[in-house]
Amino acid sequence: MTCIIDVFSIDVEMDMTEPLDILDSESFTFILDKATLDCVTCSDQYGKKTQQYLENLHRILAPGGTYLCVSHGRPETRLPQISSSNFKWQVETLKVNKKDDGGVGLVDQEQFYYVYVMTKKY
Ligand SMILES: C[S@@+](CC[C@H](N)C(=O)[O-])C[C@H]1O[C@@H](n2cnc3c(N)ncnc32)[C@H](O)[C@@H]1O
Repeated sequence: MTCIIDVFSIDVEMDMTEPLDILDSESFTFILDKATLDCVTCSDQYGKKTQQYLENLHRILAPGGTYLCVSHGRPETRLPQISSSNFKWQVETLKVNKKDDGGVGLVDQEQFYYVYVMTKKY
């Protein structure tokens, strides 16, 4: 599995659940995740992989920076790992009604998206 990150106009593909030596610590002020956390949590060994994924993002996020995650996952399934005491970020949860998203309708049975906003503390 791959993810493309635009690092100052250089596209890099990598498995974000592996150690990310290529990316410097605290080098991103904003990280946008649209359903990648969801995908990782559905993979084999999801607990270990999700932990490594979040550790990677936490490490590369600069103090004061934001990791914004758009997810189908309800807070009870996402917050236990996102809010781990290992992570020095403040977590805000937003609930978005799918009926208000411009209208493809309810393609699944869930009525909401969730947006998790992690702001890393200084
Ligand atoms: C549901 S798709 C969402 C794609 C895109 N963000 C969107 O909203 O259209 C999940 C994405 O997560 C990526 N992904 C899954 N596991 C990954 C991993 N271990 N490392 C990097 N990317 C991963 C997949 O390649 C896929 O592009």
